[in-house]
Amino acid sequence: MMESKKEDVRRKHIRLHMEGALTARDKVGVQDFVLLDAYTSESAFVDNLRKRFNENLIYTYIGTLLVSVNPYQELGIYTVSQMELYQGVNFFELPPHVYAIADNAYRMMCSELNNHFILISGESGAGKTEASKKILQYFAVTCPMTQSLQIARDRLLLSNPVLEAFGNARTLRNDNSSRFGKYMDIQFDFQGIPVGGHIISYLIEKSRVVYQNQGERNFHIFYQLLAGGEEERLALLGLERDPQLYKYLSQGHCAKESSINDKNDWKTVSNAFSVIDFTEADLENLFGIIASVLHLGNICFEEDDQGCATIPDTHEIKWIAKLLGVHPAVLLEALTHRKIEAKTEEVICPLTLELSVYARDAMAKAVYGRTFTWLVNKINSSLVNKDFTRKTVIGLLDIYGFEVFDKNGFEQFCINYCNEKLQQLLIERTLKAEQAEYEMEGIEDEECIRPGPATDLSFLEKLEEKVGTHAHFETRKLAGPTGRKRIGWMEFRLLHYAGEVTYCTKGFLEKNNDLLYRHLKEVLCKSKNVILRECFLLAELENRRRPPTVGTQFKNSLSSLLEILISKEPSYIRCIKPNDRKEPSKFDDFLIRHQIKYLGLMEHLRVRRAGFAYRRKYEHFLQRYKSLCPDTWPHWHGPPAEGVERLINYIGYKPEEYKLGKTKIFIRFPRTLFATEDALEFCKHQLVARIQATYKSCLGRKEYVKKRQAAIKLEAHWRGALARKAIQRRKWAVRIIRKFIKGFINRNKPLCPDNEEFIVFVRKNYILNLRYHLPKTVLDKSWLRPPGILENASDLLRKMCVRNLVQKYCRGITAERKAMMQQKVVTSEIFRGRKDGYTESLNQPFANSRINEGDINPKVLQLISHEKIQYGVPVIKYDRKGFKARQRQLILTQKAAYVVELAKIKQKIEYSALKGVSTSNLRDGILVIHVSPDDKQKGDAVLQCGHMFEAVTKLVMLVKKENIVNVVQGSLQFFISPGKEGTIVFDTGPEEQIYKNKNGQLTVVSVRRKS
Ligand SMILES: Nc1ncnc2c1ncn2[C@@H]1O[C@H](COP(=O)(O)OP(=O)(O)O)[C@@H](O)[C@H]1O
Ligand SMILES: [Mg+2]
Repeated sequence: MMESKKEDVRRKHIRLHMEGALTARDKVGVQDFVLLDAYTSESAFVDNLRKRFNENLIYTYIGTLLVSVNPYQELGIYTVSQMELYQGVNFFELPPHVYAIADNAYRMMCSELNNHFILISGESGAGKTEASKKILQYFAVTCPMTQSLQIARDRLLLSNPVLEAFGNARTLRNDNSSRFGKYMDIQFDFQGIPVGGHIISYLIEKSRVVYQNQGERNFHIFYQLLAGGEEERLALLGLERDPQLYKYLSQGHCAKESSINDKNDWKTVSNAFSVIDFTEADLENLFGIIASVLHLGNICFEEDDQGCATIPDTHEIKWIAKLLGVHPAVLLEALTHRKIEAKTEEVICPLTLELSVYARDAMAKAVYGRTFTWLVNKINSSLVNKDFTRKTVIGLLDIYGFEVFDKNGFEQFCINYCNEKLQQLLIERTLKAEQAEYEMEGIEDEECIRPGPATDLSFLEKLEEKVGTHAHFETRKLAGPTGRKRIGWMEFRLLHYAGEVTYCTKGFLEKNNDLLYRHLKEVLCKSKNVILRECFLLAELENRRRPPTVGTQFKNSLSSLLEILISKEPSYIRCIKPNDRKEPSKFDDFLIRHQIKYLGLMEHLRVRRAGFAYRRKYEHFLQRYKSLCPDTWPHWHGPPAEGVERLINYIGYKPEEYKLGKTKIFIRFPRTLFATEDALEFCKHQLVARIQATYKSCLGRKEYVKKRQAAIKLEAHWRGALARKAIQRRKWAVRIIRKFIKGFINRNKPLCPDNEEFIVFVRKNYILNLRYHLPKTVLDKSWLRPPGILENASDLLRKMCVRNLVQKYCRGITAERKAMMQQKVVTSEIFRGRKDGYTESLNQPFANSRINEGDINPKVLQLISHEKIQYGVPVIKYDRKGFKARQRQLILTQKAAYVVELAKIKQKIEYSALKGVSTSNLRDGILVIHVSPDDKQKGDAVLQCGHMFEAVTKLVMLVKKENIVNVVQGSLQFFISPGKEGTIVFDTGPEEQIYKNKNGQLTVVSVRRKS
């Protein structure tokens, strides 16, 4: 997870950079000098460097060589994220960086299991030591690591501050100038874990111990000890805090320097000491020596009468003797006398004041110098890796570059000699690599590969021969008349590959010999200080031969260094300082041109550019430019070489512009590459749009598929839910149905669990159903058939319903209608079930009267005016004797019934005299009103009426007597006159007839109809 995120971030950076690099090309110059069109022009070179420097781009390549310009400010380009960015990335994919060099060497070492070195050179203050520290940090952070090997890593890192404390000093050029050359091996195991290291130091500048130029300081450690050392320690060493009190520290007049924090540095160094395995005893001895050097510096000599040196104040001597574990008197003697060996005996002779001072300084230098060597060895023993598995190494060589000052002494001579050798190695290596590459790639040898004229090997060999014997190449004497003026008597001039340098021979011999009197050496050999004893071996005294000169020693160590280097793969970093004042953003053209010259950069570029400006592995070239050709975009599936060929044919490279090797393409001119880059830039915009579109559609599709799947899932779930619900329902239904059936089977049993619900259901169902089938009117006799168990309830309900209906009906009817109904009830009481035609009559409403008052004769009206007419109806009256039929009106009043013929009242029947009324049971309209015989009445009235039921009912109601109506069957008798009776016979037949039969009876025939 973390890894992939890191990877992402890195990719993004790379992408960003690629684009940035293209658009910024003109502004920030090329990031590889090889791409300079005017590659032979120093001005173009400086211009490019300046452009980049002004943009704070301090690194530029010449092929695989890194040129670094000291920014003199923190640029924020050494963060851990930067380190991660450069890890395992193709060298040319990212902007030039010291990390790229480190990573490249590391990757190659890991993959090819060979050894490497990184040579860092440049003038003092150009940033070499910083670069080497950055590389070390890079490895410390990015290399794999195990718990147990962390200590090795820490020691590698912490060896630095200790070495710097003892080997670095403030100079005019650099506040932290390394005053020794340093080669450091970092050893890696087969997994690429840093497991150990080894340091070799060269040429520690011992003279600094006893003398510093104006504005310079002695080695840091002296000041750090005084500023940071604990009180007790200083007391034990006999030291005061103030550095001004010590001659060796105060000559440069800058013992206190604001830019240097000695107190803090002391803490760092003390802490480092504990990590790199220094015991308290070691430290006691070590600082004893450091302190004794300070005391040495403060010894004052005086001259006695004989011109011999004496030391009147032995205070310092005592301290030195104590600290170094020697006898004070012996020491005193050794500082002021010299042993001369004459044949078999030794003669001791006093020294002059001058020689004594010389001897004292020599002792200080020797003690310090050898202690430094001891320190390096001690550090090495803590860095050593004790397991003997196979290891590969990366060496870091931090060594001063070519130094050319106004006055050049022995040191410059040695340094320049060293640089000459290293340059030679570089040129040889680069040329060889170049040629080997062409050969390997099968490119025919190009003419331009020739070493530059300055690298004159034979000249160097000559010089080497002469160094041992006070050599000089060009002297005032040897020079022609013109050259003579430029060389002083004491000078000689050497023509180095980078230019000529004039050296001053003053002090040459002395520095070369670096003589320490035997007498002092003896004293030191007998020291009780363990470190000194290790530094000054008795064996040295026994060897009577002159010790090798410094020059010889240096030459030897240099040749062993070259041996070390030759077996390794090189990487180069060339450091340049932009100005002499340690100022940021100051680009001093003159100074830089000088350095470019002495670092041999133009030369290097010329060699790199000889032939082809640009080369890349086919894979990488194709990867970068494949979008320019439809055949290779987006993927080329064949061999990369063919893809590249297809690609460059497509974009139209001319044959002279390139060559195809076995694994690489070689492009001759930068402009070809730039044109390709520009095309890529143009193409990129289109590609971006395409990629965006594709990406968007991809996203869209993804989104769509996601939604679709979601929908399907939802659907499935929903269907499932529905199905489950349905199944549930069905189960439920089955249960219900089963219960229903069971209930049905058991419906007639008394209430029990088996039928309970069924019965409830049936009840409910019936009642609910009943709602829709209730009778609408009182006459509606329909009723929903109830199930068996509900018969009782149904009956009750029915009654209730009917009652309700009736009630409603009753409430709804008018008084008139009520009266009529009452009449009908009376009718019913009389006739129901007794007389045919009754049922038909039921729905014929009764009228108030069948005769309008206007139809009654006014005479009649007048006659009965005192009585209210209740009812009138037309009737046919049959004579009692002849049965003649006559039209009459029957009018009923309150008191009596009248039979009226026009204006005559034919018969008046008082209700009091009314005996009864008879009718037949058949469908005739005959009614007979019986009267009392004793009355002076005319006898019974035989009438036929169309509204028989109505008329009888009205009559009965008016009469107010019960049971007066008699419904007869067959025949009836009626009263004609006192003692005389008539008979009416009722019969049925096919048609209605009324006639007088042979017996003098009235026969009434009615049609029998079913009703
Ligand atoms: N890459 C860098 N970034 C920032 N400052 C630097 C860088 N390199 C060098 N310096 C500054 O320059 C000073 C001198 O550098 P140093 O490496 O000691 O020079 P050299 O070893 O070449 O004499 C350093 O103390 C530091 O202040
Ligand atoms: Mg340095």
